[in-house]
Order: sequence, then C-alpha cells, then structure tokens
Amino acid sequence: MYLGLDIGTSEVKAVLLDTHQRLIGSAGVPLDLQHPAPGFSEQEPTRWWAACVQACAQLRETHSKAWAAVRGIGLSGQMHGAVLLDAARQVIRPAILWNDTRSHQECAEMMAVHQGAAQLAGSLIMPGFTSPKLAWLRKHEPQNYSRIAHVLLPKDYVRLQLTGDIVSDMSDASGTAWLDVAKRDWSDELLALSGLARSHMPRLVEGSASSGGLSAVAAKTLGLSAGIVVAGGGGDNAASAMGMGVAEPGQGFLSLGTSGVLFLITPGFRPNPPSATHAFCHALPDRWHQMSVMLSAASCLQWASQLLERPVAELVSLATALPVARQESAPIFLPYLSGERTPHNNAQVRGSWHGLTHDTDAATLAYSVIEGVSFGLCDGLAALQAAGCEATQLSLVGGGSRSVFWAQLLASSLDVNIITHGGAAVGGALGAARLAWLADGGNLSQVCIAPPIEATYQPIDSQRELLLPRLARFRAHYPRITL
Ligand code: XUL
Repeated sequence: MYLGLDIGTSEVKAVLLDTHQRLIGSAGVPLDLQHPAPGFSEQEPTRWWAACVQACAQLRETHSKAWAAVRGIGLSGQMHGAVLLDAARQVIRPAILWNDTRSHQECAEMMAVHQGAAQLAGSLIMPGFTSPKLAWLRKHEPQNYSRIAHVLLPKDYVRLQLTGDIVSDMSDASGTAWLDVAKRDWSDELLALSGLARSHMPRLVEGSASSGGLSAVAAKTLGLSAGIVVAGGGGDNAASAMGMGVAEPGQGFLSLGTSGVLFLITPGFRPNPPSATHAFCHALPDRWHQMSVMLSAASCLQWASQLLERPVAELVSLATALPVARQESAPIFLPYLSGERTPHNNAQVRGSWHGLTHDTDAATLAYSVIEGVSFGLCDGLAALQAAGCEATQLSLVGGGSRSVFWAQLLASSLDVNIITHGGAAVGGALGAARLAWLADGGNLSQVCIAPPIEATYQPIDSQRELLLPRLARFRAHYPRITL
C-alpha cells in the first residue's frame, strides 16, 4: 500500500494505492489562498502540513487496515512556490505562490543580466517561477531576505516535516529557474542571479528515488511506521503524468485545474524559450517534457460562479444546454484573470468579455468562459507545436475533466482526441503514490500504466466550423487589450 499526498493550491489530497493499482481511499482538505495585494498570491506553509495531517487522519480512520499496510509515501505539489526558512528551519513569511505575478520586473532584469539564462532553465524566467520572487524579496523585503537559510518548494516543506531532510526532486526543481535542466543539477550562474548559492538549495534526487525515511516524530503524528520510504515525488504536473501513465515521448495530458496545463513527454531536453513553454525534467531519470501553462483555467469558472451567484455545476449545465445559434453569438471571453504565461508571458494582461448585448445572460456567459479557457489551451497547444511537439491524443485530468460538454469542446477546438479516465481527477496524488511504489522497488512498466479509459471524444467537424471563427476573434482581441 502506498500513500500519495498532493499539496494543491485549493486542496491537499491524500490517496491510498495498492499494488493491484486499486485506489483504496482518498481524502481532501481545502486550503485558502491569500491575495494581500493585486497580483499577489500567498499561503501559510504550516497550513499545508496541518491539512496533510488532517487528510491522513481521515484516511486512517476510514481505512485503518490499509493504513497499517502503508510501505511508502510520495509527494506531489503545486510548483514554483517560494518557502523561505531561517537557520532554525522556521518559516520567515508566507510562501509566495506560482500564480503570484509581483516579480515581473525582476524577470526582465535577470534575463538582461544573463542572456543564456532561459536556455539553461528550459524556459523564459517568468514571475511564477521561484528565482525572480527571491530577487523581488531582495529589493522589497531586505530584512526577510537576509534571514534566508533555505528555500524550499511547497511539497518539499511537507517532506521536511515527514523526514527532517531538506530535499527536492528534479521535476519540481526545474520550476525554480535555478536548475540547469539539461544537467539535472543546480546552476551556480542561475542561483547568482538572485544572490543565492547551492548552500541555500535542497539536495536533489530523482522523483522515483528515495529522499529519506519517515522520521519517528512524523510516524507518531500520522500513525505510520518510522523509516518507511518517502520518494522524491514530483511537481504536480509531472506527478499527474505518472498517474496517467505518461512516461514515453509523444504521450501527454491536459490538466484543467486552477491552472490549465498541456504536458507532453519529449525525446530529450528540447527547450524553446521564445514560445513561452517550459522544458523541464520529468519525475523519472533521464526523461524530460514540455508544457504550456495558462494561469487561470477551471478557476475562471469558479470566478464566474461567484459573480453570477450560481454553482459551477449549474453554469456547466446552462452552457451544455445552450442552442448552437446562441453559442455562435455568445460573448468572447479572454481568460487572463491573473495575467498569462503561455503563450503571452504577460503578467499584466487582464481578462475581458467582448460582445455583450441585452441578450447576454448567465448561460451565454457560462458558455463563453468554458470556450475562452479552451481557446487559451489552443494557444498553448500552438506554442507547443511551435516548440516541435506533436499531440494526437491527450488524457484529460483535473476538476474540469468531469464535464462531458467541456471534454467535447476541447476535442473540437484543439483538434485532438481527448480521453477521460473517471477517477483520474486525483492525478497528482495518484502519481505521487506511484512514485512511492517505484522508490520502494516497483517496476516502471508495472507501476506507470494508463488508467482505464472512461470515454473518448473526437473532434466534430460541425463544431469546429462554429469554433474556428470564434477562435480567430479570440486571438484578434489580445493585441487590442494590451494596447
Ligand atoms: C506549472 C504551474 C502550475 C502549478 C499549479 O508551471 O505553475 O501548474 O504547478 O499547481
């Protein structure tokens, strides 16, 4: 039995996986997000650990027999967040998260100082990444900056509570912009750009390797055996890939969570920074991937749900029932509620609706939001294609994967087959559990299999005829709103 823990942005998820690939149990504990200023996004690291303990307590209570059989723990987590620790390993300030865009100026400054930085890091240095956040702190919070002894990623803070060790894995470390992604090692040159050195960095392991054993203290807190293996784990996207059985070149998935991610395994390290995609290490040794990231995906629908005072499920039903003629005349929605990464790399662009009329109602707005997020993903796919990637079929994961209507709209707008896997919504946590299994001696071909297919959605010509002119309008609005 293996335990997978995913430290997401809106929730901590815990799952139990047995060696017959059965998901024995899962538990989730919600997390709050703080926005102390526009563009700022923060969370308290101590809250992540408290939520993990709570989720584990739930699983232990509901599945006591399985709990007693846990042989290893794997971690998955929201990427890029900066957790700052002092010399006593205490948290200095709230963590600055992946969707925080305060450091956009520092990104430009850092890339001007080191023109090869993007190629080394596998991506343009973007405000979501960890390194510019530290450059921002150096300027704006010098007192906090001077106390920094260690910088950790969100899941690695949880690992510290589990093992007492300061360790990260290659896939998550790729999102710091301090890693030489080709060499799978910290880069002294990149670290120097934010005034840091290797001594501030965690030890690196591969995602499928052991990062240490569960400490006696953590074992007592969680009711598990001391010494069981804690795997390196992965950033949530690489971990989700493991959960989807995505490990070989050409395989990929699309995640509709808070962020929207298109993830494809590449034959080797294939950076193409100008396309604003990320070329990162996978959670398996000697493997790399490319991904496009949009900052607000399913979260746009959550925002619309609050605005229109209707539950998300109701908005999806309204959009699903909208007649084609009204889809055609619905407003166009640009989903840049927190700026955008791929393809625009623009922290300051904001979302907008175009073409509102007296007929616009909750149903047309809901449709336009679902469509606008799908169009953002079309831009992401085009950027990946420009980076030399191909996709004919993608597994759909994340909260948004529960809607049949959305899955079909994605197949038609992206012009790829979309497959869903039902329980695949636990993506990152399942992948984390699989990484624990590998670290405990599991065999890749036995562990990293694709989950059973629930449904396949193919592009529909008539739907594409409706969508393509609207995609062209969507694309034409971007230069107008950035004037
Ligand atoms: C990836 C990214 C997001 C977070 C969200 O680069 O920023 O997908 O990992 O959890």
